[in-house]
Amino acid sequence: MSLSPLRTFVTDFAGLLERSGDEVDVLAHGAQLLAALVAQDDWLPDDFAEPSPERYRQYLLHCDSLARFSVVSFVWGPGQSTPIHNHTVWGLVGVLRGAEISERFDVADDGALVRGAVEQLTPGQVDAVSPRVGDIHRVSNAFTDRVSVSIHVYGANIGAVERATFDREGRAKPFISGYANSRLPNLWDQSANAAAAPALRVGALVS
Ligand code: FE2
Repeated sequence: MSLSPLRTFVTDFAGLLERSGDEVDVLAHGAQLLAALVAQDDWLPDDFAEPSPERYRQYLLHCDSLARFSVVSFVWGPGQSTPIHNHTVWGLVGVLRGAEISERFDVADDGALVRGAVEQLTPGQVDAVSPRVGDIHRVSNAFTDRVSVSIHVYGANIGAVERATFDREGRAKPFISGYANSRLPNLWDQSANAAAAPALRVGALVS
């Protein structure tokens, strides 16, 4: 299992944010990068795809050193779902494995939540959220008999962002999600790639 697709993704995403801070650009081009990442399901280490019987899990895979973006694997056990919640920053959701149901909510004049579009997302598909394009949703595993996994990217260190869950009457409850893991995958050790390259022999390097 090689982490190189994830390394390429975070490097390309940092490059995208260097070129443009505009959310429209970031979501449009970032969605293409994420679609390419989730097109192949051969790079996510098992430790970051481990479900919990109690509730869905979110594992931090990478956080930009300036917290301009974070990359998280969401792992849904059979039948698990999030509460209705917001993000307060832009986010991209790409399905890697299984399938998810995304339910959007709008705020009515009286403050209650009204269910909007409902979509089923399958591997390779990418969805976007933000206060501009719609920030309140609930995500569920589409399956009751198997695990689903999605890769999310947010415009902040999302596990540290103060946001809210909502009941259907629109009453907000603040929360900070944190992460399920205390260790991150090592994206940056490329010695295995170097060892595999025939031109890189020690003798050649020291002569
Ligand atoms: Fe969400």
